[in-house]
Amino acid sequence: MSVKTLDDLLAEGVQGRGVLVRSDLNVPLDDDGNITDPGRVIASVPTLQALAEAGAKVIVTAHLGRPKGEPDPKLSLAPVAAALGEKLGRHVQLAGDVVGTDALARAEGLTDGDVLLLENIRFDARETSKDDSERLSLAKALAALVEGPDGSPGVFVSDGFGVVHRKQASVYDVATLLPHYAGTLVAAEVKVLQQLTSSTDRPYAVVLGGSKVSDKLAVIENLATKADSLIIGGGMCFTFLAAQGFPVGSSLLQEEMVDTCRRLLDEYADVIHLPVDIVVADKFAADAEAETVAADRIPDGKMGLDIGPGSVERFTALLSNAKTVFWNGPMGVFEFPAFAAGTKGVAEAIIGATGKGAFSVVGGGDSAAAVRRLGLPEDGFSHISTGGGASLEYLEGKELPGIQVLES
Ligand code: 3PG
Repeated sequence: MSVKTLDDLLAEGVQGRGVLVRSDLNVPLDDDGNITDPGRVIASVPTLQALAEAGAKVIVTAHLGRPKGEPDPKLSLAPVAAALGEKLGRHVQLAGDVVGTDALARAEGLTDGDVLLLENIRFDARETSKDDSERLSLAKALAALVEGPDGSPGVFVSDGFGVVHRKQASVYDVATLLPHYAGTLVAAEVKVLQQLTSSTDRPYAVVLGGSKVSDKLAVIENLATKADSLIIGGGMCFTFLAAQGFPVGSSLLQEEMVDTCRRLLDEYADVIHLPVDIVVADKFAADAEAETVAADRIPDGKMGLDIGPGSVERFTALLSNAKTVFWNGPMGVFEFPAFAAGTKGVAEAIIGATGKGAFSVVGGGDSAAAVRRLGLPEDGFSHISTGGGASLEYLEGKELPGIQVLES
């Protein structure tokens, strides 16, 4: 990536300068608003810490969830500001608005090394607008927050890897207005994905889970031609099982994707591997009674909530000699202990391969959360990405607007 990095910016000097940082602080919250996986907050710390220590006036912008372009108290960044302050070991102010009077007043009052977090950027409808001029007007308001008292422009650091696939005001448009740099997280993530796509170390095994085939179709099409094995579990395996003519009971099924799955199975018969057994239950609940059945015999009225032990064994055999591994998406409902063994087993197989020298990447979102929630060692993998959608789009071969804009 031929872009300027945080090191370049630090070498130029940031003491007393306004620096706008786009971070991805989109963390999962429980019903009481507590953060259940602080992974993205922790991953955002190095860039923010380096800037604050160098005496920049740091203004952070980020989103949480998908509010409808207006303030929604349930999606306030307040818990994130507290967590970020704790991880940074310094106070993080939270503005009461995005680019309004409170944000402006707080920005003006910053002294060197202060950190200000703006309220959820998606409370402003212009952030995700399809209208270029609307997004640009929000980007201008963001740029104004970091302008020096003498009218000198501030700078922009893009560090929210999880959102670089979004052409949004705080990700893309603001970089067209200000001198821009890749933060340490964005630079590190892109480097790993470049290594993954250019790696020639084989066998290359890809493990895909998650609920919808449609979300993963482009990546399946792309990686089926590159990987030696494409292991499919999670909710989306039932559409593949249905495509083979097997009954799937009341499991998750995307009827409209059955024909596509049939074509993929015909085309990539030697590459795609499906579960041989499934853990089923009669309801989607943590206390549901679990039973293991053959993958071609899911009874009527039962839903598959995890892959079975026979599948874990089969997938472990495939993964044991892999030299390159990419994993995105859990194998089952790992949040319920009775249905977590599939995800845990496959993760352990990847850790085993990594221990034998394989290069392994966990692609964001749910799979990264699963690693932490299941108590697996994070250093058992070569890299755990903070971006689910972003890393998938990169592997699909798509241009990521938030990266592309940094190259100009
Ligand atoms: C993510 O959670 O993958 C990123 O934060 C992007 O969020 P989005 O899918 O709502 O744009």
